[in-house]
Amino acid sequence: MRTSIAAIHRMRAESVRIPMITAYDYTSARIVDRTSIPMILVGDSLGMVVQGRDSTLPVTVDDIVYHTRAVMRGCARPLVVADLPFLSYATPEDALRNAGRLMAEGGAQSVKLEGGAVMAPTIRRLVEAGIPVMGHLGFTPQSVHQIGLRVQGRDVAAARQLVLDALAIQEAGVWGLVLELVPGALAEAITARLRIPTIGIGAGVGCDGEVQVWHDVLGLYDELVPRHTRRFASLADTAVAALDELAGQVRDRSFPTATQTASMSPEVLTEALADVPGAIRSVSGAGAAPAPGGMP
Ligand code: KIV
Repeated sequence: MRTSIAAIHRMRAESVRIPMITAYDYTSARIVDRTSIPMILVGDSLGMVVQGRDSTLPVTVDDIVYHTRAVMRGCARPLVVADLPFLSYATPEDALRNAGRLMAEGGAQSVKLEGGAVMAPTIRRLVEAGIPVMGHLGFTPQSVHQIGLRVQGRDVAAARQLVLDALAIQEAGVWGLVLELVPGALAEAITARLRIPTIGIGAGVGCDGEVQVWHDVLGLYDELVPRHTRRFASLADTAVAALDELAGQVRDRSFPTATQTASMSPEVLTEALADVPGAIRSVSGAGAAPAPGGMP
């Protein structure tokens, strides 16, 4: 059964920490489905980690719909939250139309949008229309050119504004809040003042949960690991080694073997070749007899 927002709220009430992971395709979603992680974010981070862009800004609603559909096909258990991309919620009407697409066409159970008190009317509009909304405060990647890629809320005014923004969007109806690159003590203070779960990234253990990006935690890049993440596996290294082993076996003819080779009756082949011109070169090992249990 798919995890509900009510179930996520129960986790907070019972002080059970809430893990969340990004995923962008069917295969990854199938893997998450086998874990105990209750929430997937189809993040606009896909612009960077899937599309190879410099920022999340070029991601479109069509992109998020496409990836959300693939994720939904791959999992039956986690709650799936889809990001509203840059400028797709600039007015409440835009937000309603585009959030509706992420829910109806993508199949998401919630949308997420960035911004504080200024987004309250938009959040209200979506919630009134029956669309669950998650907020996102602190470092908000869609504003990277305004605020820079750095920790937010370090001085008195900025810290106070973050608390007020969190309270304002809670009142507007968000059911949960991502806090990105916020000092741990401030994230904890915000968490203590809210009724809804906070999900941190670079915001410390004082949040109710933690969201991380798939490619970061699984080691799919060989670049330096950003400070707010930890590599739990080195899948890129494993893939490089496996692909080099495949390449070596193709070159030295130890792969494919008869097991991976389709077979046919020698009589049929002889008859088929009876009156066609003879071979002009010999292919070593080609046509090896199928192994017992090999491909039929
Ligand atoms: O797009 C994304 O992956 C995100 C997370 C970093 C929270 O918004």
